[in-house]
Order: sequence, then C-alpha cells, then structure tokens
Amino acid sequence: MYRCIVRNFFNSRCSQQVLVLPVIQPSHVKHRPSSWHSCSVCCMSTDAKRKKRLPSAFPVLNLPLQPIHRHVYEANLRNSAICHEKYVEYSDKVKKGGGANAIARHTQRNKKLLVRDRLRLLLDDEDFLELSPFAGLGLPYGDIPSAGCLTGIGRINGLWCVFIANDATVKGGTAYPITVKKQLRAQDVALQNRLPCVYLVDSGGAFLPLQSEIFPDKNQGGRTFYNEAIMSAERIPQVSVVCGSCTAGGAYIPTMAEETVMVHRIGTIFLGGPPLVKAATGEEVSPEDLGGARLHSEVSGCVDHFALEEKEAYECTRNIISTFNFLLPEEEERVERKADEEPLFSSQELRGLAPLSYNYTIDIKLVVSRLTDGSRFQEFKARFGTSLVTGFARIHGHLVGIVANNGELSYEAALKGSHFVQLCDQRDIPLLFLQNTVPASASTFSTQKAEVNSNRLKAQGSMMSAVACASVPKITVVIGGCHGADSYAMCGRSFDPNFLFLWPNARVSITAPSHSGDLFTPDVDNETLENFETSLKEESSAFFSSGRLWDDGVILPQDTRKVVRDCLDIIKQQQYQLSTKKVNSTILRL
Ligand code: COA
Repeated sequence: MYRCIVRNFFNSRCSQQVLVLPVIQPSHVKHRPSSWHSCSVCCMSTDAKRKKRLPSAFPVLNLPLQPIHRHVYEANLRNSAICHEKYVEYSDKVKKGGGANAIARHTQRNKKLLVRDRLRLLLDDEDFLELSPFAGLGLPYGDIPSAGCLTGIGRINGLWCVFIANDATVKGGTAYPITVKKQLRAQDVALQNRLPCVYLVDSGGAFLPLQSEIFPDKNQGGRTFYNEAIMSAERIPQVSVVCGSCTAGGAYIPTMAEETVMVHRIGTIFLGGPPLVKAATGEEVSPEDLGGARLHSEVSGCVDHFALEEKEAYECTRNIISTFNFLLPEEEERVERKADEEPLFSSQELRGLAPLSYNYTIDIKLVVSRLTDGSRFQEFKARFGTSLVTGFARIHGHLVGIVANNGELSYEAALKGSHFVQLCDQRDIPLLFLQNTVPASASTFSTQKAEVNSNRLKAQGSMMSAVACASVPKITVVIGGCHGADSYAMCGRSFDPNFLFLWPNARVSITAPSHSGDLFTPDVDNETLENFETSLKEESSAFFSSGRLWDDGVILPQDTRKVVRDCLDIIKQQQYQLSTKKVNSTILRL
C-alpha cells in the first residue's frame, strides 16, 4: 500500500508497470498528504487481486487481410499448394522405404516388422516428432529414403526419448554417409536435451561402395559409438534392441549400449557373417549359431535380455525405460498409489526358504518374489552367469537393484554383477544384496582349473571395485552364508553397506563348517581339523556375529520386507541433504 502511495506521488495514475522504487517502510512515511489517493488495484484484498490478474493476456494483433495483400496472398497460396503436393509426394516416397520387393523380403522372408510398426509397439503413441524425414532424397548417389533410418523423439512410458531406427528395406539398413550424418544429428539432439536414446538396430553395417565417406573421419561412423560412451558417462541412458542384422560396425551399437535386448531368430551380431566364415575356413555355420540371441544372451553376454519375438522385445525395452529412475510427476503418483502392493506370496514362507546348509539349493528368485511389490522383478541378464541373479524391483514403492547369490560367484556371474552395480550407480538406484555365498574351493589341481580360478579372480576383483566405488546406498541381508572373498563382492561388512542384517540361520566365517578341509594341507592331523570344525561351528553363528557387532542386527526372514522398507525410507532423506551440499559448494567456489 505504501509503495502505491509513493508511486502515485510521482505518477498520479497508478499502473502495475510503473518504475519500481525501494519499498518504503511505514515509519518512513510521516505524513500522508490529503491529495494522495490509495491505488484501486494494489490496495485491494488478495482475493480481489487474484480475480483481477486472471484475465491478463498479451495484446491481440487484430490484422485481417487487406485488399492490397490479395495478389501476393494468392500467388503464395498457389505456391503453397505446389509445395504441399511435393511434401505429400516425398512423404509417400519415404514411407515406402526400399520399395515393394524389399518390403516383401523384409516381412515375408526375414519375418521382421517394418520400422514404423516397430515404433508403434515401442512408443506410447503414434504421434512422435520425426526428425529430418526427407534426409537422403536427391543426393549424388541417389535417393536413400529416410536416409535408411528413422530418427525422432517419442514418449516411452511417459518419458521423451530419442530413437534411431534402421529401415532395413533400404539396402539392408546399411549406412550411407547421409545415414551416419542423420544418426549423429539425432545423438546431438539427445545430448543437448539430455534425452535417453533407444537404438533399433537392423543394419548391414557400412555401405561398402562409399566406405571412404563413412569410415575414416571424425564425424563419421566411429563417432556414433564415441557418442554412446560420452552420453552414458553423462548419465544419458543408452538402450538398444537388436531386431535384425548387426554386422561389423553395426555390432558396436548394441555392445556399447548400457542395456540391450535381442530378438530370437531375427537379431544377429557378428563382425563377419556366415559367408565370410565360409570363405575363411570353409565351415558352414548358421547366423543363429554364429551370433544369434541365444549365443549372445547365454554365452558371450553381449546382450542383456533375450526376447522370443519382436513384440516381447519392445515390451522389455519399455520396462527398461521405467528403471531409469526419472520419475515424472504422474508416474510418481502412480507408484505411490501402488506402493502398498504386497508380494503375491506370504513373507512367512521365507522361514522355509532360509537355507540350512549347502546340501540343498533353492532358486533365489523364490526369496525375491516374497520381498518385492507384487512379486515383480525386471531381471537383468537372466540367461548369463545364472549363479548370480540381478534385476530391478520395487519394495514399498522404492526402486531397488537386487543382487542375489544363486550359487558360486563364477567368472560370468561376477562380470554380470559389475555391470549391474554400475547401472544402478548410474541411475541412482539403491542396491539390495541378498548374500548367500557358496564355500567354493579355490584349490588348483590343473592348469585348466588354474585358468578358471584366475579369470574368476579378475572378474571378482572388478565386481569388488564396482561395489566399493558405487556411490548409491547399499543394504546387505545375509540370508545364508557369508564366507570367503565372495562375501566382499556381495557387499560384506568391509565393503561398507549402509546397513547389514543377518537372518538367524546365517553363518559368517572364512569358510562354512564342514568345508574347512580345503583350508588345510593334506598332512594336517584329524584332531586339529576337528578342533577347527568345532570352533568354526560356534564362531560362525549369526548370534555370535551379532554379539560382536559385525552387523546391524539379526532379523527374522518374515520381517525382511519391512526392515528393508525402513532402510530405504531412511536412505531417501539423503536426497535433500545432497542438494543442500551442492548449493553450499557453489557458494564456497564463489
Ligand atoms: N554394402 C553395400 N550393399 C549392401 C551391403 C553392404 N554392406 N549389405 C547389403 N547390401 C545390399 C545388397 O547388395 C542388396 O542390394 P540389392 O537390393 O540392390 O540387391 C541389399 O543391400 C539387401 O541385401 P540382401 O542381402 O539381399 O538382404 P537380406 O535382408 O537378405 O540381408 C544383410 C541383409 C545386411 C543381412 C546382408 O545383406 C549382409 O549380410 N550384408 C553384408 C554385411 C557386411 O558384411 N557388412 C560389412 C560392412 S563393413
């Protein structure tokens, strides 16, 4: 009110836009001349102010066409009609891809979906923003419809993502110089706008006759892979679906991506295809055996998800996107509503799943399904290194990455563990370790065994490093054994989990009772062995451990979901402190 009075002094008509003066406190205004009047806008009640503000809008440009514009207008109109025809003609042309024969070969012989049908299954709706659809038309080397690949931005589970999808009806999806340029531009858009990238790969690699314009220079073929690495390091997720051939250069798109889905009998990844193998070795080998989805999901580990058919692959990709931990407000609301979704199976059944010994094995997913919301679990690398189970789930609405022993921590299992821990670290997802290590023998009786052991050692070292360096919160629940070096990679006490609990049946010791023979040389007498066994039994019990504070407590199996929920609630509070810290560090730098 006082501000208005002063304004009026200078400018007897009050306006919201007039010069802004320092606020004068009531004590400064000693006398109020009778000629001053109070402002009818600023001095009204808050409700009245709100009502006044609502209708505010920018000035209207009231510009109907004038007769003098008519001839220019009509000439433009005629030109627009021609342009529109051209637009429709070009649109139709690019929609036909490589033409009727190539489409028939693609859909009937190769049994693949057309690129636009793939996008229909991947994206939330068909209304995506396509980028440069006419790229590739009228080039010196001919018309390359859509430059051989569709790029654009569409929503997947509500999240805007850039997609780069090869159209294999155009010369087998091979990369022309214009294809590379279009892909790099789409990656630029992703980088500038921090949009996740999804690659639908179906490509014969470089278009060989133009290799000199595709391969050697900075902004050519290799740049795509470079960009994938850079964006991944910038925490811009990179996901790929192998839904066709990924030959030579094409093979690096899925292998550089953070998560890859591959379609059975349709996807292949190899550096040189069967004809090259035949030429080099004379051996006949099928594309599936040389680099199919089974091989890459079970043996090489190049891909993380096996899909029986294309539809399943796009569903899996949509699930992957929902593990990015970028919750949009409406998604957050949905998760909150579902936060109380109980597992399908009673947590009481965990009592019968708590392992008594190593003589019986149970599938660890039985335990997982009794802990997670709705017993849901998005498994990662389900077919590779199966003695470790990794995947995403929600516990009382909190997204967590679960790492659970399902046998010996083999070379493959440890590689998978490292990859998964790094994914969770990148996506800021807390980790839950369900530890039940196997008291494996490290004895070396042959050079072959020595090689297996050293490979395993290297992979376990990587996993330890990934766990130690992951900056996300970690919770460890020892549900069975906590023995040997495997327990370090599974975030044992010395790897600093935020919380570590034991089930009452758990055992914590260098090796499990009745497995101590491996620790001694064959000439050790029985008495020494028996004495060691007796003390091992006593010292390895969960209560012996908890009595010495080697953990944060013994919890009952059936209470695990609740305890983990409490830990995740507690951990979540850090988010607010971290944002405060960032503000502080900025202030210090200034
Ligand atoms: N460079 C140039 N042209 C290529 C090509 C390449 N790398 N790969 C495929 N083509 C052409 C084919 O000559 C054919 O052309 P056409 O339609 O004019 O006859 C067209 O692409 C489709 O190939 P085709 O083999 O008939 O289709 P397909 O669906 O059976 O198989 C591929 C597609 C990509 C799996 C298969 O062509 C292939 O394996 N190509 C070789 C890939 C390769 O070795 N790349 C090395 C790059 S460094």
